[in-house]
Formats: sequence, structure tokens, C-alpha cells
Amino acid sequence: MSRYRLQKSLVMIGMMGAGKTAVGMALARLLGVPFVDSDAEIEAAANQSVTELFEEFGEPFFREKEALVLARLLDGPAKVLSTGGGAFLHENNRAMIAEKGLSIWLKADRAILWSRVRHKTTRPLLQVPDPQARLYQLLDEREPIYRQCALIVEAEPQLSVNEMAQKVLQAVLDHPSGLLKQVA
Ligand code: S3P
Repeated sequence: MSRYRLQKSLVMIGMMGAGKTAVGMALARLLGVPFVDSDAEIEAAANQSVTELFEEFGEPFFREKEALVLARLLDGPAKVLSTGGGAFLHENNRAMIAEKGLSIWLKADRAILWSRVRHKTTRPLLQVPDPQARLYQLLDEREPIYRQCALIVEAEPQLSVNEMAQKVLQAVLDHPSGLLKQVA
């Protein structure tokens, strides 16, 4: 069995529907490290869903909590950390992630993103009359920022979640930082 040594946390970045959580979980399993999801941690700490937090307190409040949770999750042993699609847009978060982890943009085609989120009601930013236009607009605004990630991995719709996790794993092994090593 292969074993890996991971020196810094791997931080999954990208749009809603990119597969950050599913691929991140599978990647953590392959590496034998813990997996955490910042949205799930925010929900657990607040005992409310992301949608409820947006509705009751607004997006700025959610972003404050997100930054606090990210800071907490980035401390401690190396892990795979999946973030909400807006987390990397904030400069302080980007700085924290660059210091303590390796940012990985899961870059997915807009049509794939839309096909994955269109039937979900769990994304407050898409609860608008034309959610598809909103998703594409957010993607256009965010791409230049996501592009600043240390690593960019293209999502391929024909790959399974596990195959995508393997693809990310290989990209991290190939990264010049050498933060992931195969030890056996
Ligand atoms: C958001 C994405 C969501 C969640 C919140 C805001 C965003 O997470 O954090 O609804 O700004 O793109 P996912 O990317 O996991 O859907």
C-alpha cells in the first residue's frame, strides 16, 4: 500500500458545483489525512444552515464567520480542506491559505457547474429569478481570482470522483513545492 507524507493542508477552491467537497473527501481518503469542509463547520458552529445564515444575518456576517472558521481549520495537522466558493475572494483568506496550505482550483466548465447546481436549493446566492445568468456572472467575476491558486486542476466530467481525486493527487505530487511525498 502506498503511503504519503503531506506537509501542508490542501485547500480546495472553486465555484459551487465544481466538486470541491466530493473530490476533497476522496483525496483525503487516498492520502490518509483528515477532511474538513468550511461550510459544514460554519453550520455546525452556528447550528444553522448556510441558507439560514444568509437569510437571517446577511452575506457579510457569513463571510466573517467563514474567515474565522478558515483560520481555525488551517491550524493544526495537514488535511484536505474544502472551502465555499466565495472564500478565496477575500484577500485575508488568500494570504492565510498561501501561508498555511496549498490552494487548488478545481476548474470546471460553466455548463458542468450549472448542470450540478440547477436543481439544488442550498446555494443562497442562486436564489434569484435567473440563477443560471447569476452563476455565469459570478464565474466571470471570480475566475481572475481563482487563477491565483497555486495549482489549477481541470475537472473532467467523464472522470469519476475517485479518478478526479487521483488527478489532483498526481498534480500535487508533481508540484515543485514538494509538500507531498510518496514514502512507500
Ligand atoms: C458560496 C458557495 C457556497 C457557500 C455559500 C456561498 C459562494 O459553498 O459557501 O453559499 O459564494 O460561492 P459551495 O461552493 O460549497 O457551494
